[in-house]
Amino acid sequence: MEDILILGIESSCDETAAAVVKNGREILSNVIDSQIEIHKRYGGVVPEIASRRHIETVNAVVEEALEKAGVTWDDITAIAVTYGPGLVGALLVGVSTAKALAYALNKPLVNVHHIKGHICANFVAHPELEPPFTYLVASGGHSHIVYAKDYMTYEIMGMTRDDAAGEAFDKIARVIGLGYPGGPKIDKLAKEGDAHAYEFPRVKMAGDSLDFSFSGVKTAVINQVHKMEQRGEEFNRADIAASFQDAVTDVLCEHTIEAALRKKSDTIAIAGGVAANSALREKMTKLAAEKNIKTLCPPLVLCTDNAVMIASAGYFEYINGTRADMRLNAVASLSLEDE
Ligand code: KG4
Ligand code: ZN
Repeated sequence: MEDILILGIESSCDETAAAVVKNGREILSNVIDSQIEIHKRYGGVVPEIASRRHIETVNAVVEEALEKAGVTWDDITAIAVTYGPGLVGALLVGVSTAKALAYALNKPLVNVHHIKGHICANFVAHPELEPPFTYLVASGGHSHIVYAKDYMTYEIMGMTRDDAAGEAFDKIARVIGLGYPGGPKIDKLAKEGDAHAYEFPRVKMAGDSLDFSFSGVKTAVINQVHKMEQRGEEFNRADIAASFQDAVTDVLCEHTIEAALRKKSDTIAIAGGVAANSALREKMTKLAAEKNIKTLCPPLVLCTDNAVMIASAGYFEYINGTRADMRLNAVASLSLEDE
Protein backbone atom coordinates (compact mmCIF):
# COMPACT_ATOMS: atom_id res chain seq x y z
CA MET A 1 0.00 0.00 0.00
CA GLU A 2 1.18 3.50 -0.78
CA ASP A 3 2.25 5.61 2.19
CA ILE A 4 -0.12 8.36 3.24
CA LEU A 5 1.63 11.54 4.32
CA ILE A 6 -0.48 14.14 6.09
CA LEU A 7 0.54 17.72 6.72
CA GLY A 8 -1.11 18.84 9.97
CA ILE A 9 -1.67 22.47 10.95
CA GLU A 10 -2.60 23.59 14.49
CA SER A 11 -3.31 27.16 15.67
CA SER A 12 -6.16 26.85 18.18
CA CYS A 13 -4.47 28.66 21.07
CA ASP A 14 -0.94 29.97 21.56
CA GLU A 15 1.11 27.49 19.53
CA THR A 16 1.58 27.78 15.77
CA ALA A 17 2.43 24.25 14.71
CA ALA A 18 2.87 22.18 11.57
CA ALA A 19 3.97 18.56 11.19
CA VAL A 20 4.24 15.78 8.65
CA VAL A 21 3.13 12.31 9.80
CA LYS A 22 3.33 9.06 7.83
CA ASN A 23 0.42 6.61 7.99
CA GLY A 24 -0.92 8.21 11.15
CA ARG A 25 1.87 6.89 13.35
CA GLU A 26 5.31 7.98 12.23
CA ILE A 27 6.60 11.53 12.84
CA LEU A 28 8.55 12.94 9.89
CA SER A 29 8.64 16.45 11.34
CA ASN A 30 7.20 18.38 14.29
CA VAL A 31 7.56 22.17 14.25
CA ILE A 32 6.10 24.28 17.09
CA ASP A 33 6.36 28.04 17.44
CA SER A 34 5.27 28.66 21.03
CA GLN A 35 3.98 32.08 22.06
CA ILE A 36 4.47 31.51 25.80
CA GLU A 37 7.14 34.21 26.07
CA ILE A 38 4.84 36.75 24.40
CA HIS A 39 1.77 36.09 26.58
CA LYS A 40 3.66 35.60 29.85
CA ARG A 41 3.74 39.29 30.69
CA TYR A 42 -0.08 39.47 30.49
CA GLY A 43 -0.61 36.47 32.79
CA GLY A 44 -2.52 34.50 30.15
CA VAL A 45 -3.19 34.17 26.43
CA VAL A 46 -4.36 37.41 24.78
CA PRO A 47 -6.50 36.22 21.84
CA GLU A 48 -5.83 39.20 19.55
CA ILE A 49 -2.07 38.95 20.02
CA ALA A 50 -2.22 35.17 19.48
CA SER A 51 -4.02 35.58 16.11
CA ARG A 52 -1.56 38.19 14.93
CA ARG A 53 1.45 36.07 15.84
CA HIS A 54 -0.07 33.04 14.08
CA ILE A 55 -0.42 35.11 10.90
CA GLU A 56 3.21 36.21 11.11
CA THR A 57 4.64 32.73 11.56
CA VAL A 58 2.31 30.17 9.98
CA ASN A 59 3.88 30.14 6.50
CA ALA A 60 7.40 29.74 7.84
CA VAL A 61 6.26 27.01 10.25
CA VAL A 62 4.59 25.05 7.42
CA GLU A 63 7.65 25.39 5.17
CA GLU A 64 9.93 24.24 7.97
CA ALA A 65 7.73 21.19 8.58
CA LEU A 66 8.13 20.10 4.95
CA GLU A 67 11.83 20.85 4.93
CA LYS A 68 12.52 18.95 8.18
CA ALA A 69 10.48 15.99 6.90
CA GLY A 70 12.61 15.99 3.75
CA VAL A 71 9.54 15.97 1.52
CA THR A 72 8.03 18.19 -1.17
CA TRP A 73 4.38 19.14 -1.74
CA ASP A 74 4.13 16.30 -4.26
CA ASP A 75 4.66 13.80 -1.43
CA ILE A 76 1.83 15.20 0.72
CA THR A 77 -1.42 13.24 0.38
CA ALA A 78 -3.73 15.63 2.25
CA ILE A 79 -3.77 18.68 4.50
CA ALA A 80 -5.35 18.36 7.95
CA VAL A 81 -6.21 21.34 10.12
CA THR A 82 -7.71 22.00 13.56
CA TYR A 83 -11.07 23.75 13.00
CA GLY A 84 -12.19 23.80 16.66
CA PRO A 85 -12.53 24.13 19.55
CA GLY A 86 -10.30 27.07 20.45
CA LEU A 87 -9.91 30.82 20.06
CA VAL A 88 -11.82 31.69 16.92
CA GLY A 89 -9.35 34.26 15.58
CA ALA A 90 -6.44 31.90 16.20
CA LEU A 91 -8.23 28.92 14.60
CA LEU A 92 -9.07 31.03 11.53
CA VAL A 93 -5.39 31.48 10.70
CA GLY A 94 -4.78 27.73 10.48
CA VAL A 95 -8.05 27.08 8.68
CA SER A 96 -7.45 29.83 6.09
CA THR A 97 -3.88 28.66 5.52
CA ALA A 98 -4.95 25.04 5.06
CA LYS A 99 -7.75 26.05 2.69
CA ALA A 100 -5.42 28.19 0.59
CA LEU A 101 -2.85 25.39 0.37
CA ALA A 102 -5.44 22.73 -0.45
CA TYR A 103 -6.94 24.90 -3.15
CA ALA A 104 -3.66 26.01 -4.71
CA LEU A 105 -2.11 22.54 -4.63
CA ASN A 106 -5.31 20.65 -5.37
CA LYS A 107 -4.98 18.44 -2.27
CA PRO A 108 -7.76 17.00 -0.10
CA LEU A 109 -8.57 19.07 2.98
CA VAL A 110 -9.43 17.28 6.24
CA ASN A 111 -10.97 19.05 9.25
CA VAL A 112 -9.81 17.82 12.65
CA HIS A 113 -11.39 18.22 16.09
CA HIS A 114 -8.65 19.43 18.44
CA ILE A 115 -9.54 16.98 21.22
CA LYS A 116 -9.54 14.03 18.81
CA GLY A 117 -6.06 15.25 17.92
CA HIS A 118 -4.97 15.06 21.57
CA ILE A 119 -6.27 11.50 21.73
CA CYS A 120 -4.33 10.50 18.60
CA ALA A 121 -1.03 11.63 20.15
CA ASN A 122 -1.04 8.16 21.69
CA PHE A 123 -1.15 6.40 18.30
CA VAL A 124 2.07 8.16 17.41
CA ALA A 125 3.72 7.64 20.79
CA HIS A 126 2.70 3.96 20.98
CA PRO A 127 2.69 2.46 17.48
CA GLU A 128 1.37 -0.87 18.78
CA LEU A 129 -1.72 0.74 20.38
CA GLU A 130 -5.03 -0.40 18.93
CA PRO A 131 -8.60 0.23 20.08
CA PRO A 132 -10.50 -0.50 22.23
CA PHE A 133 -9.10 1.26 25.29
CA THR A 134 -9.94 3.99 27.81
CA TYR A 135 -8.71 7.56 27.61
CA LEU A 136 -8.36 10.55 29.84
CA VAL A 137 -8.13 13.79 27.87
CA ALA A 138 -7.38 16.75 30.13
CA SER A 139 -6.39 20.10 28.70
CA GLY A 140 -6.94 23.82 29.29
CA GLY A 141 -10.48 23.59 27.96
CA HIS A 142 -11.53 19.94 28.32
CA SER A 143 -11.58 17.06 30.78
CA HIS A 144 -13.14 13.94 29.32
CA ILE A 145 -13.05 10.24 30.02
CA VAL A 146 -13.55 8.46 26.74
CA TYR A 147 -13.90 4.85 25.72
CA ALA A 148 -12.37 4.46 22.27
CA LYS A 149 -14.34 1.72 20.54
CA ASP A 150 -12.47 2.28 17.32
CA TYR A 151 -9.92 4.78 15.99
CA MET A 152 -12.50 7.50 15.52
CA THR A 153 -15.53 6.19 17.40
CA TYR A 154 -15.74 7.24 21.00
CA GLU A 155 -18.12 6.87 23.88
CA ILE A 156 -17.92 9.69 26.40
CA MET A 157 -18.03 8.23 29.92
CA GLY A 158 -17.41 11.36 31.94
CA MET A 159 -16.70 15.03 31.54
CA THR A 160 -16.32 18.12 33.64
CA ARG A 161 -19.45 19.86 34.85
CA ASP A 162 -17.62 23.17 35.30
CA ASP A 163 -13.91 23.98 34.91
CA ALA A 164 -11.45 21.91 32.93
CA ALA A 165 -8.56 20.45 34.94
CA GLY A 166 -5.99 22.65 33.16
CA GLU A 167 -8.08 25.72 33.83
CA ALA A 168 -8.00 24.92 37.56
CA PHE A 169 -4.20 24.52 37.45
CA ASP A 170 -3.86 27.89 35.68
CA LYS A 171 -6.18 29.65 38.13
CA ILE A 172 -4.48 28.30 41.26
CA ALA A 173 -1.06 29.15 39.84
CA ARG A 174 -2.25 32.76 39.48
CA VAL A 175 -3.67 32.82 43.01
CA ILE A 176 -0.37 31.70 44.55
CA GLY A 177 1.59 34.05 42.30
CA LEU A 178 3.24 31.59 39.95
CA GLY A 179 1.98 33.20 36.74
CA TYR A 180 1.41 31.72 33.32
CA PRO A 181 1.54 28.95 32.19
CA GLY A 182 0.26 27.56 35.47
CA GLY A 183 0.29 23.80 35.00
CA PRO A 184 4.03 23.25 34.55
CA LYS A 185 4.83 25.73 37.37
CA ILE A 186 2.56 23.97 39.88
CA ASP A 187 3.99 20.62 38.77
CA LYS A 188 7.53 21.82 39.49
CA LEU A 189 6.83 23.59 42.79
CA ALA A 190 4.68 20.69 44.09
CA LYS A 191 7.77 18.48 44.10
CA GLU A 192 9.07 20.55 47.03
CA GLY A 193 5.78 20.51 48.94
CA ASP A 194 3.79 18.21 51.21
CA ALA A 195 0.76 16.82 49.36
CA HIS A 196 -0.99 16.16 52.70
CA ALA A 197 -0.43 19.59 54.22
CA TYR A 198 -4.00 20.61 53.34
CA GLU A 199 -7.04 18.44 52.69
CA PHE A 200 -8.78 19.86 49.63
CA PRO A 201 -12.07 18.32 48.43
CA ARG A 202 -12.23 15.41 45.99
CA VAL A 203 -15.67 15.90 44.48
CA LYS A 204 -17.75 12.87 43.57
CA MET A 205 -20.99 13.17 41.68
CA ALA A 206 -24.17 11.53 42.91
CA GLY A 207 -24.95 8.01 41.70
CA ASP A 208 -22.49 6.27 39.43
CA SER A 209 -21.59 9.34 37.34
CA LEU A 210 -17.93 9.63 36.36
CA ASP A 211 -18.20 13.38 35.69
CA PHE A 212 -15.73 15.81 37.23
CA SER A 213 -16.19 19.08 39.03
CA PHE A 214 -13.13 21.18 39.80
CA SER A 215 -14.75 24.42 40.90
CA GLY A 216 -15.04 23.15 44.51
CA VAL A 217 -11.34 22.38 44.89
CA LYS A 218 -10.50 25.66 43.20
CA THR A 219 -12.67 27.65 45.60
CA ALA A 220 -11.33 25.71 48.61
CA VAL A 221 -7.73 26.57 47.67
CA ILE A 222 -8.59 30.23 47.04
CA ASN A 223 -10.43 30.49 50.38
CA GLN A 224 -7.55 28.85 52.23
CA VAL A 225 -5.03 31.26 50.70
CA HIS A 226 -7.20 34.32 51.40
CA LYS A 227 -7.79 33.21 55.00
CA MET A 228 -4.07 32.86 55.63
CA GLU A 229 -3.35 36.18 53.92
CA GLN A 230 -5.96 37.97 56.03
CA ARG A 231 -4.53 36.53 59.22
CA GLY A 232 -1.09 37.55 58.05
CA GLU A 233 0.02 33.91 58.29
CA GLU A 234 3.01 32.72 56.35
CA PHE A 235 2.09 29.90 54.05
CA ASN A 236 4.14 27.52 52.07
CA ARG A 237 3.25 27.85 48.38
CA ALA A 238 4.80 24.47 47.61
CA ASP A 239 2.47 22.80 50.15
CA ILE A 240 -0.56 24.50 48.59
CA ALA A 241 0.58 23.46 45.08
CA ALA A 242 1.24 19.87 46.15
CA SER A 243 -2.05 19.49 48.08
CA PHE A 244 -4.08 21.00 45.23
CA GLN A 245 -2.35 18.81 42.64
CA ASP A 246 -2.92 15.75 44.82
CA ALA A 247 -6.67 16.43 45.04
CA VAL A 248 -7.08 16.99 41.29
CA THR A 249 -4.97 14.02 40.21
CA ASP A 250 -6.71 11.72 42.73
CA VAL A 251 -10.07 12.41 41.09
CA LEU A 252 -8.71 12.17 37.54
CA CYS A 253 -7.14 8.78 38.30
CA GLU A 254 -10.01 7.35 40.31
CA HIS A 255 -12.67 8.13 37.70
CA THR A 256 -10.56 7.00 34.74
CA ILE A 257 -9.65 3.68 36.38
CA GLU A 258 -13.30 3.13 37.32
CA ALA A 259 -14.26 3.76 33.66
CA ALA A 260 -11.64 1.23 32.47
CA LEU A 261 -12.90 -1.35 34.98
CA ARG A 262 -16.49 -0.89 33.82
CA LYS A 263 -15.40 -1.50 30.22
CA LYS A 264 -13.04 -4.34 31.19
CA SER A 265 -10.40 -2.37 29.36
CA ASP A 266 -6.78 -3.38 29.96
CA THR A 267 -5.24 -0.11 28.77
CA ILE A 268 -5.59 3.53 29.82
CA ALA A 269 -4.05 6.25 27.68
CA ILE A 270 -3.75 9.86 28.80
CA ALA A 271 -3.60 12.95 26.61
CA GLY A 272 -3.83 16.74 26.62
CA GLY A 273 -1.73 19.37 28.36
CA VAL A 274 -2.52 18.09 31.87
CA ALA A 275 -1.22 14.65 30.83
CA ALA A 276 2.20 16.31 31.02
CA ASN A 277 1.75 16.49 34.80
CA SER A 278 4.35 14.30 36.49
CA ALA A 279 2.16 13.43 39.51
CA LEU A 280 -0.74 12.39 37.27
CA ARG A 281 1.54 10.21 35.13
CA GLU A 282 3.03 8.47 38.17
CA LYS A 283 -0.23 8.07 40.05
CA MET A 284 -2.22 6.74 37.09
CA THR A 285 0.53 4.26 36.22
CA LYS A 286 0.75 3.00 39.81
CA LEU A 287 -2.98 2.83 40.65
CA ALA A 288 -3.96 1.30 37.29
CA ALA A 289 -1.21 -1.33 37.63
CA GLU A 290 -2.80 -2.41 40.92
CA LYS A 291 -5.87 -3.34 38.83
CA ASN A 292 -3.75 -4.95 36.11
CA ILE A 293 -4.36 -2.04 33.76
CA LYS A 294 -1.51 -0.63 31.69
CA THR A 295 -1.10 3.17 31.45
CA LEU A 296 0.25 4.83 28.31
CA CYS A 297 1.60 8.39 28.53
CA PRO A 298 2.80 10.22 25.43
CA PRO A 299 6.08 12.19 25.71
CA LEU A 300 5.55 15.72 27.03
CA VAL A 301 5.92 17.37 23.63
CA LEU A 302 2.96 15.35 22.33
CA CYS A 303 0.80 16.14 25.40
CA THR A 304 0.68 19.91 24.96
CA ASP A 305 -0.55 21.44 21.70
CA ASN A 306 1.28 20.26 18.58
CA ALA A 307 0.49 19.45 14.95
CA VAL A 308 1.73 15.83 14.99
CA MET A 309 -1.47 14.87 16.79
CA ILE A 310 -3.52 16.81 14.21
CA ALA A 311 -1.76 15.08 11.32
CA SER A 312 -2.32 11.69 12.99
CA ALA A 313 -6.03 12.37 13.58
CA GLY A 314 -6.11 13.74 10.01
CA TYR A 315 -4.87 10.38 8.75
CA PHE A 316 -7.58 8.39 10.54
CA GLU A 317 -10.22 10.88 9.37
CA TYR A 318 -8.83 10.76 5.82
CA ILE A 319 -9.01 6.98 5.55
CA ASN A 320 -12.54 7.16 6.99
CA GLY A 321 -13.47 9.52 4.14
CA THR A 322 -13.71 12.80 6.06
CA ARG A 323 -13.26 15.75 3.67
CA ALA A 324 -13.77 19.49 4.04
CA ASP A 325 -14.26 22.02 1.26
CA MET A 326 -13.70 25.73 0.85
CA ARG A 327 -16.68 26.46 3.11
CA LEU A 328 -14.78 25.12 6.14
CA ASN A 329 -14.96 27.60 9.00
CA ALA A 330 -13.41 27.83 12.46
CA VAL A 331 -15.74 26.76 15.29
CA ALA A 332 -14.83 28.15 18.72
CA SER A 333 -17.01 25.84 20.80
CA LEU A 334 -17.11 22.39 19.40
CA SER A 335 -17.81 19.59 21.80
CA LEU A 336 -16.63 16.02 21.40
CA GLU A 337 -20.28 14.94 21.41
CA ASP A 338 -20.88 16.97 18.21
CA GLU A 339 -18.55 14.80 16.20
O1 KG4 B 1 -3.63 20.73 25.57
P1 KG4 B 1 -3.09 22.05 25.91
O2 KG4 B 1 -1.68 22.38 25.54
O3 KG4 B 1 -4.00 23.18 25.30
C1 KG4 B 1 -5.38 23.09 25.27
O4 KG4 B 1 -5.91 22.42 24.34
O5 KG4 B 1 -5.99 23.64 26.21
O6 KG4 B 1 -3.32 22.20 27.48
C2 KG4 B 1 -2.93 23.34 28.17
C3 KG4 B 1 -3.24 23.13 29.62
C4 KG4 B 1 -2.99 24.38 30.45
O7 KG4 B 1 -4.09 24.60 31.30
C5 KG4 B 1 -1.74 24.01 31.23
O8 KG4 B 1 -1.65 24.67 32.47
C6 KG4 B 1 -1.89 22.51 31.38
O9 KG4 B 1 -2.42 22.09 30.16
N1 KG4 B 1 -0.60 21.86 31.63
C7 KG4 B 1 -0.29 21.22 32.79
C8 KG4 B 1 1.05 20.80 32.66
N2 KG4 B 1 1.52 21.20 31.44
C9 KG4 B 1 0.50 21.84 30.83
N3 KG4 B 1 -1.05 20.98 33.87
C10 KG4 B 1 -0.47 20.31 34.88
N4 KG4 B 1 0.82 19.90 34.86
C11 KG4 B 1 1.62 20.11 33.79
N5 KG4 B 1 2.88 19.69 33.79
ZN1 ZN C 1 -4.92 21.26 23.28
